[in-house]
Amino acid sequence: MGKNLFPEGFLWGGALAANQCEGAWNEDGKGMSVADCSMYKPHVDLNDYRSQHMITMADIEAAMKSDDISLYAKRRGIDFYHRYKEDLDLFAEMGFKVLRVSIAWTRIFPTGLEDAPNEKGLAFYESLFREMKKRNIEPLVTLHHYEMPLYLAIHNDGWYQRLVVDKFAKFCRVVFERYKNLVKYWLTFNEIDSAFRHPFTSLGIITERYPEEKLEEIIYQAIHHQFIASSLATKYLREIIPDAKMGCMVTRTLTYPENCNPKNCLLALKDNRDNYFYSDVQVFGEYPKFIKRYWKKKDINIHMESDDEEILKCYTVDFVSFSYYMSFVSSIDRDKREKVNGNLTQGVKNPFLDVTEWGWQIDPIGLHYSLIDMYDRYRLPLFIVENGVGSNDKVEADGSIIDDYRIAYFREHIRAIASAIDDGVEVMGYTPWGCIDIVSLSTNQMSKRYGFIYVDADDFGNGTYKRLKKKSFDWYKKVIRSNGEDLD
Ligand code: BG6
Repeated sequence: MGKNLFPEGFLWGGALAANQCEGAWNEDGKGMSVADCSMYKPHVDLNDYRSQHMITMADIEAAMKSDDISLYAKRRGIDFYHRYKEDLDLFAEMGFKVLRVSIAWTRIFPTGLEDAPNEKGLAFYESLFREMKKRNIEPLVTLHHYEMPLYLAIHNDGWYQRLVVDKFAKFCRVVFERYKNLVKYWLTFNEIDSAFRHPFTSLGIITERYPEEKLEEIIYQAIHHQFIASSLATKYLREIIPDAKMGCMVTRTLTYPENCNPKNCLLALKDNRDNYFYSDVQVFGEYPKFIKRYWKKKDINIHMESDDEEILKCYTVDFVSFSYYMSFVSSIDRDKREKVNGNLTQGVKNPFLDVTEWGWQIDPIGLHYSLIDMYDRYRLPLFIVENGVGSNDKVEADGSIIDDYRIAYFREHIRAIASAIDDGVEVMGYTPWGCIDIVSLSTNQMSKRYGFIYVDADDFGNGTYKRLKKKSFDWYKKVIRSNGEDLD
């Protein structure tokens, strides 16, 4: 590998989301979010990802009556709300240039419907961003990361109702005004493509409320509202912070054809196109023809206001960001093939790949492949804003945590990024997920750890919450210091 493949100013760092790290779920005026209803279910099979993550109306009602923070793990997170300065010190020690965080909408507008924002919520993020700046860490801020106000989900059908677009746009304007001198990089919706995988977390849609046969239309309508909201957020960003950059954020799930049978190749092409649908709309500013045909065939009617298509066209994103964890396989014999889990979904197993402890396929070449493919498609800078391996790390008697598997994982993925850069791809930065251990999105476990920093808490929230450096901490520090050259 040649030297200096990573450009000067490459944004090395890490990524977090408010609902999985902050805790303080009911402090300083914060309202309940959909994440506060999500429960750790030790009795449910970990491989049954649907039941693990399923949230019914009865679950929501039970959650609203409960103050529990033991099973409702996202309510406590890792107490980042109170410990962020200590955590930022550790990130600065690793040399982070950027930290991806999200703003919990419910800290600013507790139900989503208030006229005036909650000053304490605004003050918290102002302090967080100022403390980052002091440490030369650039904030990269997600506006919507699986934490919409629960009130809007219950009373306004989540993103299905158009009203939510206006409420979100207002929230965006408020935070852009407040942080205009502090935040340059923004993302609209985290994994906007997750709508069908987990509609409640992603869209605030309580599926049991609607007739089964209408659900697909309802979800597409809600996605349309998120697309409009994303464009409006971009419009307001341009007006309020003209030199800032807006990115979309999608889950990149590459699927390879099972073999060179043209039927499998065609299927893989279509599967990948489905995955790209969401970034296509936000980059090209229009719906692809295939989806309009599909809606017509299925009698899916999406209501659009008269200027919606113009809004989509005018306010497209400046860069494309994505999470990358695994790849899958497209096979016309899918039903007969062995399956593996990954990111609240399931796909056909690839015999050439190893899996993580949680069964997610490890495929650094798939990252190289995706970077080339996405850059050729969009010709916009790419930002890998999530990547990493969840594992059950062990603390040794002397307090050390020897996570060589994590180092090996990142080494190969960083090599893949370098190779893509060498192939002419423009990459802005890399923010490994859960750079400090946080609560898992899918399983609500603490024991599914991604961090360079260990947090002493168990799956029920017991522990000192003390932060410990893992072996990968010093390794990543060296990687950043050498701008990606020293991966040994
Ligand atoms: C991504 C999400 O899909 O995957 C994160 O944006 C999430 O919120 C991450 O935490 C890893 O998933 P999990 O379930 O292992 O936490």
